[in-house]
Formats: sequence, structure tokens, C-alpha cells
Amino acid sequence: MSYFRHHIFFCLNERPAGQASCAHNGAQDAFDHCKARVKAEGLAGPGGVRVNKAGCLDRCAGGPVAVVYPDETWYTFVDREDIDEIVESHLKNGRPVERLMLPPDIGR
Ligand code: FES
Repeated sequence: MSYFRHHIFFCLNERPAGQASCAHNGAQDAFDHCKARVKAEGLAGPGGVRVNKAGCLDRCAGGPVAVVYPDETWYTFVDREDIDEIVESHLKNGRPVERLMLPPDIGR
């Protein structure tokens, strides 16, 4: 059994002006909101969910992005409601959110 049931990594990287960059598209707010929601739902900690900052995940063109392990599910999102849905559906109930999944061909 793994230490955390789910690990979600948010790219908070800031790339130079003019380049696709998660930091320019609300990544910090999404990270902060996710961390708060996971804690409020009682999901944080060993056996539960860990929300982590990450540097560039090399999928900048789809940013902001986050990835959930061990499921290898990549997400892109727009607002806090999207984060709420990821927390409720995937991190709490184990049902990935199809509509927010990052298309497989999106790279840097
Ligand atoms: S800047 Fe976020 S994936 Fe590269």
C-alpha cells in the first residue's frame, strides 16, 4: 500500500513572457484552492491525498496543468469549480473527471 492514496502535482512554473506558462494562467490560485479543499474534506495526510507544487511538467501548451498519481491522470482546468470537481470526484471518490483531462498530444 502506498503512503498516499493520491498525489496531485500542480505545475506552478513561470516561463518567459510570450511563452505558454501555467503561472500566467491561475496555477497558484488553483493549487492553494485544491490544498484548502483537500484539507476541508479531511482527505489530507497518510493514506489520503497529498497536494504538491511542481516545476514545469513539460506540457505547458495545455496549462495550467496538474497530474494525479498513481493514476497518471493529467488535467487542465480553468477555475475553482474545476478544482472542486477534481477533488470531489477523483480525489475523494476515485472517479476521474473526463471533461477536464488533458488531451494526450499536448506538450510544451
Ligand atoms: S509551465 Fe507548466 S507545464 Fe510547463
